[in-house]
Amino acid sequence: METTHRVVVGDARDLSAVADDAVDLVVTSPPYPMIEMWDDLFADLDPTIEDALAAGDGQTAFDRMHDQLDSVWDELDRVLVDGGIVCLNIGDATRTVDGSFRVYPNHARIIEAFESRGFDPLPDILWRKPANSAAKFMGSGMVPPNAYVTLEHEYILVFRNGGDSRTFEPRADRRYEAAYFWEERNRWFTDIWTDVRGELQTLEHDIDADLRDRSAAFPLEIPYRLICMYSAYGDTVLDPFWGTGTTSLAAMCAARNSIGYELEPAFCEVFDDRVADVGTLSRSIGRARLDRHREFVAQRTENGNPPAYDAEQYDTTVVTKMERRIQFREVADAEPIEDGYRIAHRPLSAHTRS
Ligand SMILES: C[S@@+](CC[C@H](N)C(=O)[O-])C[C@H]1O[C@@H](n2cnc3c(N)ncnc32)[C@H](O)[C@@H]1O
Repeated sequence: METTHRVVVGDARDLSAVADDAVDLVVTSPPYPMIEMWDDLFADLDPTIEDALAAGDGQTAFDRMHDQLDSVWDELDRVLVDGGIVCLNIGDATRTVDGSFRVYPNHARIIEAFESRGFDPLPDILWRKPANSAAKFMGSGMVPPNAYVTLEHEYILVFRNGGDSRTFEPRADRRYEAAYFWEERNRWFTDIWTDVRGELQTLEHDIDADLRDRSAAFPLEIPYRLICMYSAYGDTVLDPFWGTGTTSLAAMCAARNSIGYELEPAFCEVFDDRVADVGTLSRSIGRARLDRHREFVAQRTENGNPPAYDAEQYDTTVVTKMERRIQFREVADAEPIEDGYRIAHRPLSAHTRS
C-alpha cells in the first residue's frame, strides 16, 4: 500500500492546488487571533490589523484576524467531501488592549463561521493542558473581585460538511482494518482530553521544545488520534495551517494520504528531518498500541471478564466483533517526490511484545 504527502508552500486562503472533493478529513490548528505571537503574521495578511492594534481597538483587530481565517474556511466546503469532518484545534486569547483586559473567544467565533458556511457542529473536545505556574493566576491575588480564571484548556472543534455522514460499502476492508480497540474508543471519544502528553509523546523525540514553542506545533498524539477517529485507510487529510507538518507525520504513521499548505518555507526542512525517522516512529506507535491493548486484556482477564473475540492479525483477543480485523501498518520506505513524499506501507508484523 502506498500513500502520498504533498506540501504546498503558499497561502491557504486560495487552495486552488486542491481539487474539489479531494479531501476526506481536515485536521488543523490555525494561528490564534489575538495571541501576540501571531500579530505580525496577521498584519502581513491585512495591514489594517496593525493599525487597529496600534489604535487600541482590540475588537476590530479580532474581527479582521478572523476575516483572514474565514477565507480559508470558505475553501474547505469545496475541497472536502460531503460528510467529511473538520477537526480544528483552537484556544481563546486573553489580552490587555488599551488598558482593558478581556477574553477574545476564538472558539465561539469559529463555530459561527462554520455554521454559517453549512457545516454541522459535532460534539467538541476540551484539551486540558497545564499552564506554566508563573502565568497561572492573573489579577489581584487573594482579594475579590478582580482576579481572573486561568485558561488551561484549548478546544478541538469538530464539524461535518453537510447533514449526512459518509457512507462505505458494507464490511469495507479499509474501514474495518482501520478500526480502533474498544478501550481506545472509550478514551479517545471522551469530551475532555487530559492524557495527551504521555503516550505517543515518549515515542516522539523528533522535535525539540524550543522549536515546538516557536512553531506552535501540536503534539503528534493530537492529529494521530483525530486521524484514527475520523478517517479510514487510504483517505486524504488536509492541514491548511501545516506548520512543521505534524499532521502529515501522523497521516504517514496512520497510512492516510495528506496535503499541507504553509506560508513559511523554512518549516519544510524541519519536516524533512522528522520524516527521516518515520519508519521507526510508525512501528513504535503500532507496537505501543498493541502492548497497551494486551495489558488491558490481561487486566480484564484477571477481573474474570476476558474479551470474547480473537483478533485475526494479532495474538490477542478483542471486546467486539468490529475490532477483529484490526491491521496496523508501518512505514517501509519514504521516497521524496517533487512536492512531498511517497510512502510505502506494510502490515505491522504480528509480534508478541515489543
Ligand atoms: C499554529 S501553527 C500550526 C502548527 C502545526 N500544527 C504544527 O504542528 O507544526 C499555524 C501555521 O499556519 C501558518 N499560516 C498562517 N496563515 C497561513 C495561510 N494563510 N496560509 C498558509 N499557512 C498559514 C503559519 O505560518 C503557522 O506555521
